[in-house]
Amino acid sequence: MEKKDSIAVTVWEGTRQQVIYLTPGDNLLMGLVRAKLPIDFFCTTGKCRTCALRMQIPEGSASGASATEQYRLGQDALGKGFRLACQVYVSGPLSVYLDASGSACTDRNL
Ligand code: FES
Repeated sequence: MEKKDSIAVTVWEGTRQQVIYLTPGDNLLMGLVRAKLPIDFFCTTGKCRTCALRMQIPEGSASGASATEQYRLGQDALGKGFRLACQVYVSGPLSVYLDASGSACTDRNL
């Protein structure tokens, strides 16, 4: 259910789509976990890359990639839309893509 002052995050699992609602400033990873989505994560501090997901983030919907993300993911993965969910704080609507199995991206060749 949509709440006032909430931000719609569209989550794609393969071809299945669902919308969850977060509060401005919420951590994306924690929001996905609270929604009981099958997200892999470990460190929550941007070091392990386990939470790497492809996202579509319109300008203004989250801050740009942090130095940690730039270091851990690299420009190639960032250019493909990958971000570390634990490092993303939402400020506007965005989309997140899980892989077809519903888990976090398993492409470890990022
Ligand atoms: S959980 Fe380790 S980088 Fe996000």
